[in-house]
Amino acid sequence: MKKSREDHAARFDDKAGEYDESQSDEYRACANAVVEYAAPEADDVVLDLGTGTGAIALGVAPDAARVVGRDISEGMLEEAARKANKRGLENLTFGSGTFREPNYDGPVDTVTSNFALHHLSDAEKREAIAVIAGFEPRKFILGDVMFFGEPNPDVPFYSPDVDDPATVGLLADAFTDAGFSLTAVERVHDQVGVLVAERSHTAAQRGAE
Ligand SMILES: C[S@@+](CC[C@H](N)C(=O)[O-])C[C@H]1O[C@@H](n2cnc3c(N)ncnc32)[C@H](O)[C@@H]1O
Repeated sequence: MKKSREDHAARFDDKAGEYDESQSDEYRACANAVVEYAAPEADDVVLDLGTGTGAIALGVAPDAARVVGRDISEGMLEEAARKANKRGLENLTFGSGTFREPNYDGPVDTVTSNFALHHLSDAEKREAIAVIAGFEPRKFILGDVMFFGEPNPDVPFYSPDVDDPATVGLLADAFTDAGFSLTAVERVHDQVGVLVAERSHTAAQRGAE
C-alpha cells in the first residue's frame, strides 16, 4: 500500500461529492461489466468491497436479496447511502470495513469490487483474496486497474504515487491459490480489466451438469 488506509480514506472523503461525475468511459465500461457478471439471483447476498459511492452495490441491488457495501471512507459511504435512499432501495446496508477486515460475518453468495483493490500492495491483495475466499462465495467479480502488458504510468487509470495495480498474472495466481477458478477475463483497456473467479467446486459442479 503506497499510502496508509487513513490517507486513502481522507482522499476519498474529499472527492466524494464529485466522484460520480469525474469518471472515464473505461471506468464506466468496467463497472457495467462487473454488474453484468455479478447477475445475482433473487435470494443472493452480495458483498461489495471498496463500495465507494455505491456504483456496483446500487447496480446489483434491484436483482439481489441483500447488498452489503463496505468502505474506509465515511464520505463515500454517506454518498452511497444517500443515493440508495433517493432511489427507494431498501435492501442495502453500507458500513465501515476493509478488504482484509470487512466487518461482516453473514452469508455471502457473490463478492464484487470495482476500482478499489489496486490501493493495496500485491501481498495485501493476496491476503484480501484469501479473506474473501473464506466467505465461500459462489463467485468474486473483480473490476480494477490491472496490467495486461507492461505498466505505462503515462496513460490514465493509475497514479504511481498512490495506486499499486497488479499484473493480471499475479491476480490469477492469487485467485487460484485461494481456491478460485478464473472463468472469465475481460480486458477493458491495457490497464483495466474484469476477472470472474468462481469457487473451484462450483465451477466443477457446473461442468458436471
Ligand atoms: C476509486 S473508488 C471505487 C468505488 C466504487 N467501487 C466504484 O466502482 O465507483 C475506490 C474506493 O476504495 C476504497 N478503499 C481504498 N482502500 C480500501 C480498503 N483497504 N478497504 C476498503 N475500501 C478501500 C476508497 O475509500 C474508495 O471509496
